[in-house]
Amino acid sequence: MPVVRTKAILERAFEERYGVAAINVVDELTMEAVLAAAEELRAPVIVQTSVKHVVMTGVGVMYAMWRELTKTITVPVALHLDHCPDRTLISECLAAGWSSVLFDASKLTVEENMRQCIEVVAEARRHGADVEGEIEGFKRTEEMTGDEAEHVQSLKTVVEFVQATGVDVFAPAIGNAHGVYATTPHLDSQRVTDIVEATGIPVALHGGTGMTPEQFSDLISRGCAKVNISTALKIAFMKSGYEYMSAHPGEYDPPAIFKAQRGAVMDMARHHIRLFGSEGKAWA
Ligand code: 13P
Repeated sequence: MPVVRTKAILERAFEERYGVAAINVVDELTMEAVLAAAEELRAPVIVQTSVKHVVMTGVGVMYAMWRELTKTITVPVALHLDHCPDRTLISECLAAGWSSVLFDASKLTVEENMRQCIEVVAEARRHGADVEGEIEGFKRTEEMTGDEAEHVQSLKTVVEFVQATGVDVFAPAIGNAHGVYATTPHLDSQRVTDIVEATGIPVALHGGTGMTPEQFSDLISRGCAKVNISTALKIAFMKSGYEYMSAHPGEYDPPAIFKAQRGAVMDMARHHIRLFGSEGKAWA
């Protein structure tokens, strides 16, 4: 198997109405831990890389990590570039071998976003890769005002964007945000149903950290085949490191901390894979 197209992973999940965990990793340890959890649970998984971490690590090193770490993986996995407004970085990642990219031109007009997204899709296809599109952008949770779900584009605009660009998965704003929610967010789940019915493509659910199990299962049943988790990984990674150091004052043994962090990240990934219904969904 093991590295397949993002579209192949999402099509199955969309058809069978389970969610695939799309987890942002920050380094080699977290990439390995997410892959190990997916392998253990026989689940497909999408490993996501943020622009910040790709730039920090370097495209070549990041992709070399992915290539080496996936050599022994037997479940379907894909490598995705999350929220990228930078066309040059998109080109570099596609040329290196990323499975898919999220072209984030949400700060541009819809018309300009659409024009450029058509080019990104054409470029991705030349590399056998897939594209996620968005037109609304997401706030950080600390910037939320409670009326996020109301400031969205019309269904007509979404349909026009999806049809004109040919994106494989669409990320709508439904009252979700990135970070730690102060309270359970109020989500416009009907919008997911409307978009899925009108476009026929899977939806990417952003801002997954902190949503309730009921919200996840409702949204996945409506067509959110890709479920993004980032903050939960950062919390698991940082907290386990901090707790380890607090419990072992004066011990300066990096591999011991790494072991604790790997365990915490694997637990977090297992939890979400099970919650989204993708355990055992790896195909032969
Ligand atoms: P969280 O950080 O809220 O989990 O959101 C993840 C995400 O949507 C990445 O694009």
